[in-house]
Amino acid sequence: TAIVHVVGARPNFVKAAPVVSALRGRGAHQAVVHTGQHYDDRMSAVFFRDLGLPEPDVDLGVGSGSHAAQTAALMVGLEKEFTERAPGAVVVYGDVNSTVAAALVAAKLGIPVAHVEAGLRSFDNTMPEEINRRVTDQLSDLCFATSPEAVGHLANEGIAPDRVHLVGNPMIDTLLANLDRFDADALRARLGLPERYVAATLHRPANVDDPDTVARLVARLHEIADLADVVMPVHPRGRAAFDRAGLGGHPRVRLLEPLGYLDFVALTRGAAAVVTDSGGVQEETTVLGVPCLTLRPNTERPVTLTHGTNQLVTEADLPQAVAKALDGRRDATAVDSTPPLWDGRSGERIAAVLTRWSG
Ligand code: UD1
Ligand code: UDP
Repeated sequence: TAIVHVVGARPNFVKAAPVVSALRGRGAHQAVVHTGQHYDDRMSAVFFRDLGLPEPDVDLGVGSGSHAAQTAALMVGLEKEFTERAPGAVVVYGDVNSTVAAALVAAKLGIPVAHVEAGLRSFDNTMPEEINRRVTDQLSDLCFATSPEAVGHLANEGIAPDRVHLVGNPMIDTLLANLDRFDADALRARLGLPERYVAATLHRPANVDDPDTVARLVARLHEIADLADVVMPVHPRGRAAFDRAGLGGHPRVRLLEPLGYLDFVALTRGAAAVVTDSGGVQEETTVLGVPCLTLRPNTERPVTLTHGTNQLVTEADLPQAVAKALDGRRDATAVDSTPPLWDGRSGERIAAVLTRWSG
Protein backbone atom coordinates (compact mmCIF):
# COMPACT_ATOMS: atom_id res chain seq x y z
CA THR A 1 0.00 0.00 0.00
CA ALA A 2 1.08 3.53 -0.75
CA ILE A 3 1.97 6.47 1.44
CA VAL A 4 -0.14 9.40 0.25
CA HIS A 5 1.13 12.95 0.82
CA VAL A 6 -1.53 15.64 0.91
CA VAL A 7 -0.37 19.14 -0.06
CA GLY A 8 -2.38 22.20 -1.03
CA ALA A 9 -0.81 25.53 -0.11
CA ARG A 10 2.54 27.23 -0.75
CA PRO A 11 4.33 26.28 2.49
CA ASN A 12 3.23 22.62 2.16
CA PHE A 13 5.27 22.11 -1.00
CA VAL A 14 8.49 23.32 0.64
CA LYS A 15 7.97 20.93 3.60
CA ALA A 16 6.92 17.90 1.57
CA ALA A 17 9.82 18.01 -0.91
CA PRO A 18 12.50 16.48 1.35
CA VAL A 19 10.12 13.84 2.74
CA VAL A 20 9.01 12.72 -0.72
CA SER A 21 12.62 12.65 -1.86
CA ALA A 22 13.84 10.64 1.16
CA LEU A 23 11.03 8.10 0.74
CA ARG A 24 11.82 7.83 -2.96
CA GLY A 25 15.41 7.05 -1.95
CA ARG A 26 14.08 4.18 0.15
CA GLY A 27 12.02 2.85 -2.72
CA ALA A 28 8.70 3.52 -0.96
CA HIS A 29 5.46 3.35 -2.91
CA GLN A 30 3.97 6.85 -2.68
CA ALA A 31 1.61 9.35 -4.28
CA VAL A 32 1.15 13.12 -4.01
CA VAL A 33 -2.39 14.49 -3.82
CA HIS A 34 -2.64 18.24 -4.47
CA THR A 35 -5.87 19.64 -3.09
CA GLY A 36 -5.77 22.78 -5.24
CA GLN A 37 -6.17 25.09 -2.22
CA HIS A 38 -3.52 27.25 -3.91
CA TYR A 39 -3.75 27.22 -7.69
CA ASP A 40 -2.04 30.27 -9.25
CA ASP A 41 1.18 29.31 -11.04
CA ARG A 42 3.12 31.53 -8.63
CA MET A 43 1.50 30.02 -5.54
CA SER A 44 1.81 26.41 -6.63
CA ALA A 45 3.33 25.12 -9.90
CA VAL A 46 6.49 27.23 -9.57
CA PHE A 47 7.33 25.31 -6.37
CA PHE A 48 7.10 21.95 -8.10
CA ARG A 49 9.48 23.25 -10.77
CA ASP A 50 11.90 24.93 -8.35
CA LEU A 51 12.03 21.97 -5.96
CA GLY A 52 12.01 19.15 -8.50
CA LEU A 53 8.91 17.72 -6.83
CA PRO A 54 7.16 15.10 -8.95
CA GLU A 55 3.98 16.37 -10.59
CA PRO A 56 1.05 15.66 -8.26
CA ASP A 57 -0.69 12.37 -9.08
CA VAL A 58 -3.95 14.25 -8.88
CA ASP A 59 -5.10 17.84 -8.35
CA LEU A 60 -8.50 18.05 -6.67
CA GLY A 61 -8.96 21.67 -7.79
CA VAL A 62 -10.76 22.68 -4.61
CA GLY A 63 -9.79 26.37 -4.80
CA SER A 64 -10.82 29.23 -2.52
CA GLY A 65 -13.82 29.79 -0.28
CA SER A 66 -14.90 30.56 3.28
CA HIS A 67 -13.41 28.27 5.90
CA ALA A 68 -16.47 26.04 6.01
CA ALA A 69 -16.97 25.93 2.26
CA GLN A 70 -13.30 25.28 1.54
CA THR A 71 -12.86 22.69 4.29
CA ALA A 72 -16.05 20.91 3.24
CA ALA A 73 -14.97 20.78 -0.41
CA LEU A 74 -11.54 19.54 0.65
CA MET A 75 -13.11 16.78 2.73
CA VAL A 76 -15.47 15.61 0.00
CA GLY A 77 -12.65 15.50 -2.54
CA LEU A 78 -10.22 13.77 -0.20
CA GLU A 79 -12.76 11.18 0.97
CA LYS A 80 -13.31 10.04 -2.60
CA GLU A 81 -9.57 10.03 -3.28
CA PHE A 82 -8.65 8.07 -0.12
CA THR A 83 -11.46 5.58 -0.66
CA GLU A 84 -10.25 4.85 -4.20
CA ARG A 85 -6.53 4.78 -3.37
CA ALA A 86 -6.84 3.00 -0.01
CA PRO A 87 -3.48 4.35 1.18
CA GLY A 88 -1.53 2.64 3.96
CA ALA A 89 -0.87 6.04 5.51
CA VAL A 90 -1.59 9.70 4.86
CA VAL A 91 1.05 12.34 5.51
CA VAL A 92 -0.10 15.92 6.15
CA TYR A 93 2.01 19.09 6.48
CA GLY A 94 1.83 22.25 8.54
CA ASP A 95 -1.39 23.98 9.53
CA VAL A 96 -3.47 24.93 6.50
CA ASN A 97 -7.07 23.93 5.80
CA SER A 98 -5.89 21.12 3.50
CA THR A 99 -3.95 19.68 6.47
CA VAL A 100 -6.85 19.46 8.90
CA ALA A 101 -9.31 18.30 6.22
CA ALA A 102 -7.02 15.42 5.22
CA ALA A 103 -6.42 14.39 8.83
CA LEU A 104 -10.13 14.36 9.61
CA VAL A 105 -11.06 12.35 6.52
CA ALA A 106 -8.24 9.84 6.93
CA ALA A 107 -8.94 9.33 10.64
CA LYS A 108 -12.60 8.57 9.96
CA LEU A 109 -11.68 6.11 7.23
CA GLY A 110 -9.34 4.37 9.68
CA ILE A 111 -6.23 5.32 7.71
CA PRO A 112 -3.17 6.14 9.84
CA VAL A 113 -2.19 9.82 9.76
CA ALA A 114 1.28 11.33 10.14
CA HIS A 115 1.62 15.06 10.80
CA VAL A 116 4.80 16.83 9.74
CA GLU A 117 5.40 19.98 11.82
CA ALA A 118 3.28 18.87 14.77
CA GLY A 119 3.04 20.57 18.15
CA LEU A 120 3.53 24.21 17.17
CA ARG A 121 1.29 26.45 19.27
CA SER A 122 0.67 30.19 19.25
CA PHE A 123 -2.02 29.73 21.94
CA ASP A 124 -4.05 32.19 19.87
CA ASN A 125 -7.30 30.72 18.60
CA THR A 126 -8.05 33.84 16.56
CA MET A 127 -5.61 32.29 14.06
CA PRO A 128 -7.30 29.65 11.90
CA GLU A 129 -3.98 27.83 11.79
CA GLU A 130 -3.99 27.29 15.57
CA ILE A 131 -7.31 25.48 15.35
CA ASN A 132 -6.01 23.42 12.44
CA ARG A 133 -2.88 22.45 14.39
CA ARG A 134 -4.70 21.34 17.51
CA VAL A 135 -7.23 19.23 15.67
CA THR A 136 -4.66 17.69 13.33
CA ASP A 137 -2.36 16.68 16.18
CA GLN A 138 -5.19 15.02 18.11
CA LEU A 139 -6.05 12.93 15.05
CA SER A 140 -2.49 12.01 14.11
CA ASP A 141 -0.96 8.61 14.84
CA LEU A 142 2.50 10.04 14.27
CA CYS A 143 3.54 13.58 15.20
CA PHE A 144 6.82 14.87 13.73
CA ALA A 145 8.05 17.85 15.72
CA THR A 146 10.52 20.53 14.63
CA SER A 147 11.52 21.74 18.11
CA PRO A 148 11.62 20.63 21.76
CA GLU A 149 8.82 23.11 22.71
CA ALA A 150 6.55 21.38 20.25
CA VAL A 151 7.21 18.02 21.93
CA GLY A 152 6.26 19.62 25.25
CA HIS A 153 2.99 21.00 23.89
CA LEU A 154 1.98 17.59 22.57
CA ALA A 155 2.73 16.00 25.95
CA ASN A 156 0.64 18.67 27.68
CA GLU A 157 -2.28 17.84 25.40
CA GLY A 158 -2.13 14.19 26.37
CA ILE A 159 -0.59 12.83 23.20
CA ALA A 160 1.28 9.63 24.02
CA PRO A 161 5.06 10.08 23.80
CA ASP A 162 5.48 7.04 21.55
CA ARG A 163 3.53 8.89 18.84
CA VAL A 164 5.90 11.87 18.92
CA HIS A 165 9.25 12.15 17.12
CA LEU A 166 11.56 15.14 17.31
CA VAL A 167 13.03 15.19 13.80
CA GLY A 168 14.03 18.79 13.12
CA ASN A 169 12.69 20.96 10.33
CA PRO A 170 12.11 19.68 6.79
CA MET A 171 11.57 23.25 5.53
CA ILE A 172 15.19 23.84 6.50
CA ASP A 173 16.23 20.67 4.62
CA THR A 174 14.88 22.37 1.51
CA LEU A 175 16.68 25.60 2.36
CA LEU A 176 20.04 23.92 2.95
CA ALA A 177 19.73 21.68 -0.10
CA ASN A 178 19.25 24.73 -2.33
CA LEU A 179 21.70 27.16 -0.66
CA ASP A 180 23.91 27.55 -3.71
CA ARG A 181 20.88 28.25 -5.92
CA PHE A 182 19.81 31.39 -4.00
CA ASP A 183 21.71 34.03 -5.94
CA ALA A 184 20.92 37.39 -4.38
CA ASP A 185 23.21 39.34 -6.74
CA ALA A 186 21.69 37.80 -9.86
CA LEU A 187 18.17 38.51 -8.58
CA ARG A 188 19.12 42.09 -7.72
CA ALA A 189 20.48 42.60 -11.24
CA ARG A 190 17.50 40.92 -12.90
CA LEU A 191 14.90 42.96 -10.98
CA GLY A 192 16.95 46.16 -10.91
CA LEU A 193 16.97 46.26 -7.10
CA PRO A 194 19.26 48.57 -5.13
CA GLU A 195 22.16 47.28 -3.04
CA ARG A 196 20.31 47.77 0.24
CA TYR A 197 16.63 46.97 0.64
CA VAL A 198 14.04 45.63 3.08
CA ALA A 199 12.05 42.61 1.87
CA ALA A 200 8.44 42.35 3.03
CA THR A 201 5.76 39.67 2.80
CA LEU A 202 2.42 39.82 4.61
CA HIS A 203 -0.65 37.62 4.32
CA ARG A 204 -2.14 36.84 7.75
CA PRO A 205 -5.84 37.74 8.01
CA ALA A 206 -5.10 39.86 11.11
CA ASN A 207 -2.83 42.09 8.99
CA VAL A 208 -4.40 42.15 5.53
CA ASP A 209 -8.18 41.62 5.83
CA ASP A 210 -9.26 44.84 7.57
CA PRO A 211 -8.90 48.03 5.45
CA ASP A 212 -8.10 50.24 8.48
CA THR A 213 -5.31 47.92 9.57
CA VAL A 214 -3.98 47.84 6.02
CA ALA A 215 -4.03 51.65 5.82
CA ARG A 216 -2.01 51.89 9.06
CA LEU A 217 0.45 49.30 7.79
CA VAL A 218 0.88 51.13 4.51
CA ALA A 219 1.75 54.31 6.43
CA ARG A 220 4.42 52.36 8.36
CA LEU A 221 5.80 50.73 5.23
CA HIS A 222 6.09 54.18 3.66
CA GLU A 223 8.04 55.35 6.73
CA ILE A 224 10.35 52.38 6.24
CA ALA A 225 10.72 53.26 2.56
CA ASP A 226 12.02 56.68 3.65
CA LEU A 227 14.95 54.74 5.21
CA ALA A 228 15.56 52.04 2.59
CA ASP A 229 13.88 50.61 -0.49
CA VAL A 230 11.07 48.18 0.29
CA VAL A 231 10.53 45.19 -1.99
CA MET A 232 7.31 43.26 -1.44
CA PRO A 233 6.10 40.22 -3.35
CA VAL A 234 2.39 40.49 -2.62
CA HIS A 235 0.37 37.40 -1.55
CA PRO A 236 -2.96 37.33 -3.44
CA ARG A 237 -4.91 37.55 -0.20
CA GLY A 238 -3.75 41.15 0.42
CA ARG A 239 -3.28 42.38 -3.13
CA ALA A 240 -6.50 44.35 -3.52
CA ALA A 241 -6.35 45.86 -0.04
CA PHE A 242 -2.73 47.03 -0.40
CA ASP A 243 -3.45 48.48 -3.85
CA ARG A 244 -6.51 50.31 -2.55
CA ALA A 245 -4.49 51.74 0.34
CA GLY A 246 -1.87 53.05 -2.10
CA LEU A 247 1.13 50.97 -0.98
CA GLY A 248 2.81 51.31 -4.38
CA GLY A 249 2.46 55.12 -4.28
CA HIS A 250 5.84 55.62 -2.56
CA PRO A 251 8.74 55.91 -5.05
CA ARG A 252 10.88 53.51 -3.01
CA VAL A 253 8.27 50.77 -2.65
CA ARG A 254 8.53 48.03 -5.25
CA LEU A 255 5.54 45.68 -5.44
CA LEU A 256 5.98 42.30 -7.13
CA GLU A 257 3.85 39.28 -7.86
CA PRO A 258 4.47 36.38 -5.42
CA LEU A 259 7.94 35.02 -6.16
CA GLY A 260 8.91 31.43 -6.78
CA TYR A 261 10.87 29.70 -4.03
CA LEU A 262 14.38 30.21 -5.40
CA ASP A 263 13.77 33.88 -6.17
CA PHE A 264 12.06 34.54 -2.87
CA VAL A 265 14.80 33.06 -0.74
CA ALA A 266 17.39 34.90 -2.86
CA LEU A 267 15.46 38.11 -2.12
CA THR A 268 15.47 37.27 1.59
CA ARG A 269 19.13 36.36 1.60
CA GLY A 270 20.13 39.67 0.03
CA ALA A 271 17.90 41.81 2.25
CA ALA A 272 19.16 44.06 5.02
CA ALA A 273 16.05 43.07 6.97
CA VAL A 274 12.81 41.17 6.41
CA VAL A 275 9.34 42.25 7.53
CA THR A 276 6.89 39.37 7.62
CA ASP A 277 4.00 37.55 9.25
CA SER A 278 4.84 34.24 7.56
CA GLY A 279 5.60 31.17 9.65
CA GLY A 280 8.15 29.68 7.29
CA VAL A 281 9.98 32.95 6.69
CA GLN A 282 10.67 33.30 10.45
CA GLU A 283 12.49 29.96 10.24
CA GLU A 284 14.35 30.57 7.00
CA THR A 285 15.69 33.97 8.15
CA THR A 286 16.87 32.32 11.37
CA VAL A 287 19.07 29.95 9.39
CA LEU A 288 20.15 32.59 6.86
CA GLY A 289 21.09 35.00 9.67
CA VAL A 290 18.98 37.82 8.23
CA PRO A 291 17.19 40.07 10.77
CA CYS A 292 13.47 39.25 10.77
CA LEU A 293 10.76 41.53 12.12
CA THR A 294 7.56 39.60 12.60
CA LEU A 295 4.42 41.69 12.60
CA ARG A 296 2.45 39.57 15.06
CA PRO A 297 1.63 39.58 18.77
CA ASN A 298 2.86 35.98 19.15
CA THR A 299 4.62 33.17 17.33
CA GLU A 300 4.18 29.41 17.33
CA ARG A 301 7.90 29.27 16.48
CA PRO A 302 9.59 30.70 19.62
CA VAL A 303 12.82 28.87 18.78
CA THR A 304 13.35 31.56 16.12
CA LEU A 305 13.32 34.17 18.90
CA THR A 306 15.65 32.27 21.25
CA HIS A 307 18.01 30.73 18.67
CA GLY A 308 17.50 32.96 15.67
CA THR A 309 17.18 36.44 14.27
CA ASN A 310 13.45 36.84 14.77
CA GLN A 311 11.76 39.58 16.77
CA LEU A 312 8.05 40.25 17.30
CA VAL A 313 7.00 43.81 16.55
CA THR A 314 3.82 45.85 16.62
CA GLU A 315 2.78 48.00 13.69
CA ALA A 316 3.58 51.13 15.72
CA ASP A 317 7.13 49.92 16.52
CA LEU A 318 7.90 48.63 13.05
CA PRO A 319 9.78 51.63 11.53
CA GLN A 320 12.02 51.98 14.58
CA ALA A 321 12.72 48.25 14.66
CA VAL A 322 13.66 48.31 10.98
CA ALA A 323 15.93 51.32 11.55
CA LYS A 324 17.73 49.39 14.30
CA ALA A 325 18.07 46.28 12.16
CA LEU A 326 19.50 48.40 9.34
CA ASP A 327 22.17 49.75 11.70
CA GLY A 328 23.28 46.59 13.43
CA ARG A 329 22.98 43.80 10.93
CA ARG A 330 24.22 40.45 12.20
CA ASP A 331 26.74 38.36 10.38
CA ALA A 332 25.07 36.51 7.53
CA THR A 333 25.91 33.01 8.76
CA ALA A 334 24.43 32.47 12.18
CA VAL A 335 25.19 28.75 11.89
CA ASP A 336 25.97 28.07 15.54
CA SER A 337 22.69 29.64 16.62
CA THR A 338 20.65 27.24 14.48
CA PRO A 339 18.05 25.28 16.45
CA PRO A 340 18.83 21.63 17.25
CA LEU A 341 18.34 19.16 14.36
CA TRP A 342 17.77 21.89 11.76
CA ASP A 343 20.60 20.23 9.91
CA GLY A 344 19.16 19.25 6.53
CA ARG A 345 18.42 15.64 7.49
CA SER A 346 14.85 15.87 8.80
CA GLY A 347 13.29 14.38 5.67
CA GLU A 348 15.56 11.36 6.10
CA ARG A 349 14.54 10.99 9.77
CA ILE A 350 10.86 11.23 8.88
CA ALA A 351 11.23 8.70 6.07
CA ALA A 352 13.00 6.28 8.41
CA VAL A 353 10.15 6.40 10.93
CA LEU A 354 7.48 6.22 8.21
CA THR A 355 8.93 3.18 6.49
CA ARG A 356 9.40 1.34 9.78
CA TRP A 357 5.85 2.21 10.80
CA SER A 358 3.96 1.61 7.54
CA GLY A 359 6.07 -1.52 7.14
C1 UD1 B 1 -3.36 29.83 3.52
C2 UD1 B 1 -3.32 29.21 4.90
C3 UD1 B 1 -2.26 29.91 5.74
C4 UD1 B 1 -0.93 29.92 5.04
C5 UD1 B 1 -1.05 30.48 3.66
C6 UD1 B 1 0.24 30.32 2.93
C7 UD1 B 1 -5.48 28.35 5.73
C8 UD1 B 1 -6.60 28.60 6.64
N1 UD1 B 1 -4.60 29.36 5.60
O1 UD1 B 1 -3.77 31.18 3.67
O2 UD1 B 1 -2.13 29.23 6.98
O3 UD1 B 1 -0.02 30.68 5.79
O4 UD1 B 1 -2.08 29.76 2.93
O5 UD1 B 1 0.37 31.17 1.84
O6 UD1 B 1 -5.37 27.29 5.17
N2 UD1 B 1 -5.78 33.16 -3.71
C9 UD1 B 1 -5.46 33.36 -5.03
N3 UD1 B 1 -4.70 32.42 -5.67
C10 UD1 B 1 -4.28 31.29 -5.08
C11 UD1 B 1 -4.64 31.07 -3.75
C12 UD1 B 1 -5.37 32.01 -3.08
O7 UD1 B 1 -5.81 34.38 -5.62
O8 UD1 B 1 -3.59 30.47 -5.74
C13 UD1 B 1 -6.58 34.18 -2.99
C14 UD1 B 1 -8.08 33.96 -3.05
O9 UD1 B 1 -8.70 35.20 -3.12
C15 UD1 B 1 -8.35 33.33 -1.69
C16 UD1 B 1 -7.33 34.00 -0.79
O10 UD1 B 1 -6.19 34.18 -1.62
O11 UD1 B 1 -9.66 33.55 -1.25
C17 UD1 B 1 -6.98 33.18 0.43
O12 UD1 B 1 -6.55 31.85 0.07
P1 UD1 B 1 -6.66 30.66 1.15
O13 UD1 B 1 -6.01 29.45 0.60
O14 UD1 B 1 -8.05 30.53 1.62
O15 UD1 B 1 -5.86 31.18 2.38
P2 UD1 B 1 -4.46 31.94 2.47
O16 UD1 B 1 -4.72 33.31 2.99
O17 UD1 B 1 -3.71 31.77 1.21
N1 UDP C 1 7.70 32.14 -0.27
C1 UDP C 1 7.89 32.20 -1.65
N2 UDP C 1 7.48 33.31 -2.35
C2 UDP C 1 6.90 34.39 -1.75
C3 UDP C 1 6.69 34.31 -0.33
C4 UDP C 1 7.08 33.17 0.37
O1 UDP C 1 8.45 31.27 -2.23
O2 UDP C 1 6.57 35.36 -2.43
C5 UDP C 1 8.11 30.92 0.46
C6 UDP C 1 8.94 31.12 1.69
O3 UDP C 1 10.31 31.18 1.38
C7 UDP C 1 8.61 29.87 2.49
C8 UDP C 1 7.15 29.65 2.17
O4 UDP C 1 6.93 30.31 0.93
O5 UDP C 1 9.36 28.76 2.04
C9 UDP C 1 6.28 30.23 3.27
O6 UDP C 1 4.95 30.27 2.84
P1 UDP C 1 3.89 31.32 3.37
O7 UDP C 1 4.58 32.51 3.93
O8 UDP C 1 2.94 31.52 2.27
O9 UDP C 1 3.12 30.50 4.50
P2 UDP C 1 3.34 30.29 6.07
O10 UDP C 1 4.71 29.79 6.28
O11 UDP C 1 3.06 31.60 6.74
O12 UDP C 1 2.29 29.31 6.41
